[in-house]
Amino acid sequence: MITPQEGKSSFSLFAVRQLLPRLRPHRRALSVAGVALVISAALGLAFPLIVRHLMDAAFEDRDASALNSIAILLLVVFAAQAVFNFLQVFLLSATAERVIAGLRTELFAHLLTLSPGFYAERSSGELTSRLASDCSTLQVVLSHQLAEFLRQILYLVGALTLLAILHTDLMVTTITVAPIVVLSAYAFGSILRAKSTRVQDELAESNATAEEAFTQIPIVQSFTREGWEEKRYGNRIARALKTAVQRALVRGLFFGMITFVAFGGIVVVLWKGGLLVLEGQITAGELVSFLLYAVSVAAAITALASLYSGYQEAMGAAKRVFDLLHLEPTIKEPRHSEALPPASDAGGLVFRDVWFRYGLDEPWVLRRLDLDIRPGEIVALVGPSGAGKSTLAALVPRFWDPTQGVITLRGADLRRIPLIELRTAVGIVPQEPLLFADTIYENIAYGRPEASSEEVMQAARFAHAHEFIQGLAGGYEAMVGERGIRLSGGQRQRIAIARIFLKEPEILILDEATSSLDTESEALVEEALETVMEGRTTLIIAHRLKTVQRADRVLVIDDGRILEQGTHSELVAEGGMYARLYRGQLLEPQADPAD
Ligand SMILES: Nc1ncnc2c1ncn2[C@@H]1O[C@H](COP(=O)(O)OP(=O)(O)OP(=O)(O)O)[C@@H](O)[C@H]1O
Ligand SMILES: [Mg+2]
Repeated sequence: MITPQEGKSSFSLFAVRQLLPRLRPHRRALSVAGVALVISAALGLAFPLIVRHLMDAAFEDRDASALNSIAILLLVVFAAQAVFNFLQVFLLSATAERVIAGLRTELFAHLLTLSPGFYAERSSGELTSRLASDCSTLQVVLSHQLAEFLRQILYLVGALTLLAILHTDLMVTTITVAPIVVLSAYAFGSILRAKSTRVQDELAESNATAEEAFTQIPIVQSFTREGWEEKRYGNRIARALKTAVQRALVRGLFFGMITFVAFGGIVVVLWKGGLLVLEGQITAGELVSFLLYAVSVAAAITALASLYSGYQEAMGAAKRVFDLLHLEPTIKEPRHSEALPPASDAGGLVFRDVWFRYGLDEPWVLRRLDLDIRPGEIVALVGPSGAGKSTLAALVPRFWDPTQGVITLRGADLRRIPLIELRTAVGIVPQEPLLFADTIYENIAYGRPEASSEEVMQAARFAHAHEFIQGLAGGYEAMVGERGIRLSGGQRQRIAIARIFLKEPEILILDEATSSLDTESEALVEEALETVMEGRTTLIIAHRLKTVQRADRVLVIDDGRILEQGTHSELVAEGGMYARLYRGQLLEPQADPAD
């Protein structure tokens, strides 16, 4: 669940507390940057003091050589400042890039641990937005805004202190504007944060729309719904735009007001300072230095105000990123894990009184399931669409946990087996196998990355994929395109089967693994599957008669229950639902390639 972070202060604190430990490893670079920042600010603050002497040398003393050396001193000051500015900007930006790169990787790694239920609720477009744009927002804060904030604070405090030392009257004048600025920054800041959060959310939504259209382009085009998709995307963008324009309006109002308040203060300083010059209380040089300090104060206040609004926006981004990062996976690693008992021990895959539903207010998908699969047994699941076959299969690698009841493997509760061990033991060829946008070779080797190229090719041969792979331009190095779109359905399936061959799981789950094969390759794949099933506990969701006939046991699932079980001939003899499925040809007869 998302950790609620109510209230502004606890919320900023939350983000800061998240960021601090991530900055700690970079403390050396950050300290150097901090020192450079302080020195650079001090040099900047020295500028009006030096200018004062320069002005006095010109106007009061009329001393050319003093003027020359002061000018040279100024140049040296700015050169030194340039070096420190370089150090600060470089070190901070590089550190921020590192921290954010780390955060992105961490977030990605965390997202990978979240269960399918999470992905059913979030679109991938939204998640990529979080990784891309929210993290970028944070990066700007760390690399630039934070340093700017510190610099402006230093300028503000330094200039006010110097003003106080040099002339209290003028300092009091400048300071009266401060409360106005602080209050309005606070008010505008929270509006800005709300608006920014909405803009980001709406952009994430439009990203999701675009991504969906891209991945489903054949459907979009075959239904000629390009215009509709364009409108859908356009509407989302228009919504984001509307909020963004409102945000721009608030920003503009805020900035306009702050600049007026700040620079209005300068006018007052100028006016009061002018009076003091007239009274002969201060020199022209002093007035100029006062003025420069007052400008520093005004500029610092303006900058701080806009930084504050930027900070509010960034906190929205930070919250979204860290909320995701703290999302607990519903499928957790066991706290006290047990190693999987050795294979020789009694017990295969056992379901004990398993009930399952996808959510609290969803209907039961599996009810009172009791099932005992012996090691090496081949069990075929048949039943009408929506009966719960794929759901039952998804419980084995713990994509979901049973709502009630337990599933054990070799006597150990699945929830107590380390996930990596469990999932190494279970291999799945899903209903619609997807491939990665990589080479054929890498897609097969995904099953066991350390496999030799000999083994990869051997697996391809077993899966009857070797021949067609060699026919492709590029062979094993041919790219399959995103999700494998450059291959036919049957070719994709054979790659997926080759991948499972390499993985050599103890338990094999085949979800209609031969459904999109042509007659000829179907026979080949049947053969291949026979080899891979040998000696493995296999759960095969079958629509084909031959698969069912070969199984040691057939389970007829209907409405989440096991309705009948037995061998093919037993079930036909029983004359129940299976017999009806069989006679009604709901089970496709095995196609014979000789036909
Ligand atoms: N992620 C999900 N969230 C909520 N309900 C789901 C989810 N996945 C499946 N269901 C529901 O669970 C029920 C069983 O689905 P399941 O995919 O297990 O059926 P199936 O037996 O594999 O069907 P088919 O033969 O068509 O593949 C269906 O009513 C479906 O609507
Ligand atoms: Mg299914």
